[in-house]
Amino acid sequence: MSGNNQESGCGCNKVALAEHTPAQSLSRRNALLKLGAGLNALAGLLIGVPVFGYVLSTFSKRSPRSWVSLGAVNQFPEGNTRLAVFRNPVTAAWDGDTAEVPCWVRRIEGEKFQVFAINCTHLGCPVRWFQQSRLFMCPCHGGVFYEDGSHASGPPPRGLFVYEHKVEGGELKILGGNLPTLAEPT
Ligand code: FES
Repeated sequence: MSGNNQESGCGCNKVALAEHTPAQSLSRRNALLKLGAGLNALAGLLIGVPVFGYVLSTFSKRSPRSWVSLGAVNQFPEGNTRLAVFRNPVTAAWDGDTAEVPCWVRRIEGEKFQVFAINCTHLGCPVRWFQQSRLFMCPCHGGVFYEDGSHASGPPPRGLFVYEHKVEGGELKILGGNLPTLAEPT
């Protein structure tokens, strides 16, 4: 019995020694090196693709704009300023109500309009229209604008931003999609 055990023990050791020849160790090391290199490449791709996308996006100067309707012309009485809301044409489905953009519409007479961005040109708070005083006022720091959108008083550096507009088929339309800022006024 003991002789058989010794024989079988010697046989196992021979098999174990045969499994770890220098050539096989080298090929296993190579495989691990390749796996490591592959994982590094994958990590580089995961980090690099968003960075590359961001860099590319900086080359597109402006977001696309398109004409959007504010409704029928006759819903804006002459000599009045009314609040209107349009859906930003540059949105994703999941934007929900944040894609609804308010603006002030002043109908001077006939087809003469002015459409103002609601945001104050100081720090962007929404301005309110006061019919009695015929002024736009900003609740944040006291900025005031005349009814034609020009600056009246307070910290804002300029008048209200104005949307390009046109009357087409009895509807008032504005060029939406790019919210005006000091860097890009229209
Ligand atoms: Fe309107 Fe400052 S944000 S006055």
